[in-house]
Amino acid sequence: MPKIVTLPGDGIGPEVTAAAVEVLREVAPDLTFEEHAIGGMAYDAHGDPFPQRTRDALADADAVLLGTVGGPQNSPWNSLPRPMRPESGLLALRKALGCYANLRPVRVQPGLEHLSPLKPELARGVDILIVRELLGGVYFDQDRKIDGDTAYNTMRYTTPEVERVAKMAFWAAEQRKGRVTSVDKANVLEVSELWRRDVQALRDREYRNIHLNHEYVDSVAMLIVSDPSRYDVIVTENLFGDILSDLAAVIPGSLGLMPSASLGDGAGLFEPIHGSAPDIAGKGIANPAAAIMSAAMLLRHGLKRSDAANQIERAVALALREEPTRDLGGKADTRTFTNAVLEAMGTPVG
Ligand code: NAD
Ligand code: IPM
Ligand code: MN
Repeated sequence: MPKIVTLPGDGIGPEVTAAAVEVLREVAPDLTFEEHAIGGMAYDAHGDPFPQRTRDALADADAVLLGTVGGPQNSPWNSLPRPMRPESGLLALRKALGCYANLRPVRVQPGLEHLSPLKPELARGVDILIVRELLGGVYFDQDRKIDGDTAYNTMRYTTPEVERVAKMAFWAAEQRKGRVTSVDKANVLEVSELWRRDVQALRDREYRNIHLNHEYVDSVAMLIVSDPSRYDVIVTENLFGDILSDLAAVIPGSLGLMPSASLGDGAGLFEPIHGSAPDIAGKGIANPAAAIMSAAMLLRHGLKRSDAANQIERAVALALREEPTRDLGGKADTRTFTNAVLEAMGTPVG
């Protein structure tokens, strides 16, 4: 009986996680779920955005399903010392799990081009996998400070950090079209110079079957929305990957369609890429598709149950056709959409 730790968190996190758990229970009745606190609500309840009890629960978990963390702009959480803020709890969780590679698929399913604000011929057939480095760069470097009128952060990478995430990207490309685009800012940054050198050297040493190219992040920001079909796998550092993946959400049509899987040393972490959406939290109208598709990634990558994962993804595509949510210009609320997914799972394939 695989144990899934669920961390619903803040804002719309509990709403979308509940939907994902309902769907998981339907396709995999043998799973057990254990819910724990993370983020702002964990700080309020336990004085810590990543409490010891949550940390302890990870020890024997087979996978972790996360909602979202964080409050609105005026939240008192945002004035706490940085380590006590909701977002720091999430970063500490990723670190504790050793999840250094964050897989963020960007897909437009057949027949769902109309949900994209892009011209249908641009959106059609898009299938990109963004592999975002998740435990390094400016996010984690301790050489950081704000002091009076001066502040700094440090973007630092080492060769082993670059190689382990690049390996994940090459591995993923081997099961896809065999093309990897490494994204950096090597025309300006030394850290990108090292990134580019190490990714290329690894390809030349161990992955000669992969077609690798290098592009600058500013150019990719333009090309990923104007010509998304040019990409198969994109691999990039933490901050670039954060920004590019929210931008890429434009292609399928909403942040509510962007799931993720974070893989590394131990149990995987599965979470939608969107935030706590304070503007719609508590209204029951959030799009749970990203959370439900993250649950599918949990089955595929965390539990090696690809059939169940495919079943969920097919059902989500059907539900998006029948009952699109408001972020996609439709009318369905969270409940209606989740029901449509559950119903579609009972629909025979074809
Ligand atoms: P956000 O992703 O929460 O929201 C951006 C916009 O997208 C909002 O208009 C929101 O309503 C909409 N949106 C997002 N997810 C949606 C969904 N599933 N269905 C329908 N609409 C959706 O980004 P933000 O407003 O910049 O950040 C809000 C809070 O979330 C901040 O505290 C931030 O730090 C946090 N955050 C957390 C995560 C995470 O937990 N992984 C990710 C990003 C932001
Ligand atoms: C994400 C979020 C997080 C990040 C924040 C909330 C720490 O934006 O998961 O994309 O920047 O990684
Ligand atoms: Mn983000």
